[in-house]
Amino acid sequence: MKVGVVGAGLVGATAAYAMTLRGSCSALVLVDQDEGRARAEAQDIAHAAPISHGVRVSSGDYAALQGSKLVLIAAGANQKPGEGRTELLEKNAEIFRQVIPQVAAHAPGAVVLIATNPVDALTDLAVHLAPGHAVMGSGTVLDSARLRWLIAQHAGVDATNVHGYVLGEHGDSEVIAWSSATVAGLPVAEFMAARGLPWTQDIRAEIETGTRDAAASIIGGKRATYYGIGAALARIAERVLGDRRAVLTVSAPTPEYGVSLSLPRIVAAGGIEASVMPKLTDDEKAALGRSAAVLRASKERLGL
Ligand code: 2OP
Repeated sequence: MKVGVVGAGLVGATAAYAMTLRGSCSALVLVDQDEGRARAEAQDIAHAAPISHGVRVSSGDYAALQGSKLVLIAAGANQKPGEGRTELLEKNAEIFRQVIPQVAAHAPGAVVLIATNPVDALTDLAVHLAPGHAVMGSGTVLDSARLRWLIAQHAGVDATNVHGYVLGEHGDSEVIAWSSATVAGLPVAEFMAARGLPWTQDIRAEIETGTRDAAASIIGGKRATYYGIGAALARIAERVLGDRRAVLTVSAPTPEYGVSLSLPRIVAAGGIEASVMPKLTDDEKAALGRSAAVLRASKERLGL
């Protein structure tokens, strides 16, 4: 169960660290254009192996990806404070045009997991550059976790007992599927009422903003996000590797919308087995349509 990580920056290295601590795979290889950086990160992470799950961590060039069951792509620039994800599009697309064909050539059969932003458009580009590979983007797996955490804070329960999905773009147009969100199996409003907790339009709006603007707020404070996304990527990778059929809001080409976006999808060894459309209100459906339109504009910018 080997995983390749291309891009040993903060996101790639943190995902590798999370996979090492969780024992998500048996071997990990880090590849970066800065070989010294990849080597140093691999060494640092490898030192956690004997005191966790013994994952074999190394670094190498593209040829070292041979035999990987999954390759995580975290190469590219990240946002600066005040910068939006879509501003990275052309710069990171250029990097993808170099990186993805190399990955496809050296890791045939690997599931390709995209983390680089803007993740939805770059998932479309990777699909185009790696024909025959199962490709998915981390999409809104992180946003859904942020949503669940914020609801849990308000509900006063463990975040793992909150379920809810963020759909569409991993970005400003993302859609919170409130109508299908639950706490302890109850619709959120019913749970709050049962517990005597307030559940007003303002509280909902605050949770929405907290979910949507989380990255900007963290980047404003420490210039990057990596722990949340690192854990999300480890989770996706281990669900693929373990053929777990987990339901995760990964990004993938969605024929009804003509673009890659996030929906709850059943993730298995071969990639995405099926997609599930939650029950949405008319407003949520319309918002998802608008999110898809934003993403189609990015896809067009790439000439896809
Ligand atoms: C995040 O949401 C920046 O996309 C990254 O944390």
